[in-house]
Amino acid sequence: MADKRTILIQLDSDPHPSAFDRVVAIDAGVDELFSYGGVKPEQVAGLVHGAIFTRGPKDLKRTALFIGGSDVAQGEKLLAEALKAMIPAYGLRVSVLLDANGANTTAAAAVRAAARHLALKDTKALVLGGTGPVGQRVALLLARQGAQVRLGSRQLARAQAAAEAIRARVPEANVEPAGIASPADLPGAVADRALIVAAGAAGVVLLTKAVRPACQALKVAIDLNAVPPLGIEGTEVSDSAVERDVVICYGAIGVGATKMKLHRAAVAKLFERNDQVLDAEEVYALGEGL
Ligand SMILES: NC(=O)c1ccc[n+]([C@@H]2O[C@H](COP(=O)([O-])OP(=O)(O)OC[C@H]3O[C@@H](n4cnc5c(N)ncnc54)[C@H](OP(=O)(O)O)[C@@H]3O)[C@@H](O)[C@H]2O)c1
Repeated sequence: MADKRTILIQLDSDPHPSAFDRVVAIDAGVDELFSYGGVKPEQVAGLVHGAIFTRGPKDLKRTALFIGGSDVAQGEKLLAEALKAMIPAYGLRVSVLLDANGANTTAAAAVRAAARHLALKDTKALVLGGTGPVGQRVALLLARQGAQVRLGSRQLARAQAAAEAIRARVPEANVEPAGIASPADLPGAVADRALIVAAGAAGVVLLTKAVRPACQALKVAIDLNAVPPLGIEGTEVSDSAVERDVVICYGAIGVGATKMKLHRAAVAKLFERNDQVLDAEEVYALGEGL
């Protein structure tokens, strides 16, 4: 008998399920896309049961979940509820990809860009805006690759909490928090860093041109903010390995091509088995073959 059609069930915490994520699902080859918006954690179990109680275990790899929405913390709650609702002891589970606000694919693409130019193990890196969902994942992925990560925030306590969360996941992580409350704190934070990733909020400059002379060891600068003014002054949003003053630069659109490839590859990967949970590390691993 022919394989059953692939079904992707999109659970989105925003009122309208993301059009972006829907287009990528189709481009990744999904046959049928069921999109649910405004999904709340208490509604997830019913939706997951609809997925796992319909097809037999051998066909469940043809059904999968995608968790999106602009609120990454809410996406993480939806993922936790989805996993709770599955019944792996009876093979009643489906694979799931978390990419709320594009955080996993964006962070993975940024770290892949860095890895094109630097051996990440022992690379001294600084993640500006390291407390946001994207910055935390960039710092996590860099730490997993053995980089020495400095995680910046305007508030040291927030940087400490984010660094602690990474160490809880990666006990061997070499990650230190840095409070960058004012421009005067920047030269010390950047001085010995070969890699700087700016993952600050949209439209916020985190690294001005005035600080560039202090970036003595800088080899690669990656800015994920696509909304002017950009996060790293002097880079362009479409930079993709563009050399500027001996520094290799990437902008948000420059990183975007890899992000899109990772997103499509992750959706396609869901249908290989029914027991996968694709979060930051798993999405990053997909970049190996791209
Ligand atoms: N290309 C893509 O597809 C894509 C996808 C997702 C995100 N992005 C971009 O990636 C970047 C990071 O995303 P995100 O969702 O993680 O960002 P976010 O949560 O909005 O902000 C990240 C961090 O920036 C810092 N920040 C916020 N407002 C600030 C201000 N006025 N001045 C200085 N620092 C400020 C905060 O850190 P502290 O308060 O701890 O200092 C915050 O945790 C954004 O620019 C976003 O647009 C791109």
